[in-house]
Amino acid sequence: MSELSQPETADESSREVYDHVQRAFHWSMAVIIIVAVVLGFWASFQLPGTSLRRTLLEVHKSFGMIALLLIVPRIAYRLLVPGPTEMAHSTVVTRAAARGVHLFLYLLMIIMPISGYLFSGAGGYPLSFFGLFSWPRIVPLDEILSKLGQTIHDWGAWAVYGMLLTHVAAVVVHEVFTPQSSLERMVPCWKLRRSPPH
Ligand code: HEM
Ligand code: HEM
Repeated sequence: MSELSQPETADESSREVYDHVQRAFHWSMAVIIIVAVVLGFWASFQLPGTSLRRTLLEVHKSFGMIALLLIVPRIAYRLLVPGPTEMAHSTVVTRAAARGVHLFLYLLMIIMPISGYLFSGAGGYPLSFFGLFSWPRIVPLDEILSKLGQTIHDWGAWAVYGMLLTHVAAVVVHEVFTPQSSLERMVPCWKLRRSPPH
């Protein structure tokens, strides 16, 4: 029998997979953030004032603001409901590294949309949500505040690229080189492919 085949509701305190809500938050936000990052990266190669850059940034900001709204309930839920138990085959060092990368990703999911909002809000730039409405501008128009938001957002972008590459590389390394998959903790049906019941 697969070591993960226990029902995830059998004993909530010793689950070996993320629960439905944690998985829904992870994958919906992963898609939203990856789309936002690709559009932000693409926009950074366009000349200011071009209509392509404007459109890319409008969609980028719209996805970024959805991420900002979702991160609040996601973190609240994560604090209330613990994640799965540590992976059995991992060493103290890999566990600490995984925890560090995950914490850093959570930090970036807070810093990036807030700094982006500060940059656009305080700079008087558009805050349109897919052209449907505009988000309220709750920060004063202030060039220094806007510049601060821009600097944090631009440096944060490098951290996002690095952390996402590290995160996905770690998942692949677990898949290929270790006996236990980390993907099946976030996609439980993945285990059926890797370790069929016997
Ligand atoms: C999870 C949320 C977000 C992520 C991961 C993210 C990431 C990025 C990335 C990777 C870039 C390209 C960086 C570069 O210029 O080299 C970028 C650019 C940008 N983002 Fe975001 N962003 C997010 C949310 C937002 C929000 C909510 C806003 C505004 C409401 C925003 C406004 C901007 C603007 C204006 C740029 C162009 C920056 C420039 O030209 O200096 N972003 N973002
Ligand atoms: C193709 C893209 C992605 C894949 C394959 C992936 C896969 C995974 C897997 C397998 C885990 C479980 C790790 C474990 O405990 O064993 C995980 C956790 C996590 N992922 Fe991703 N992920 C992806 C994209 C993202 C993105 C875009 C973000 C956000 C910036 C993200 C943030 C996180 C966080 C914060 C955790 C820790 C969850 C917790 O313990 O609360 N992931 N991911």
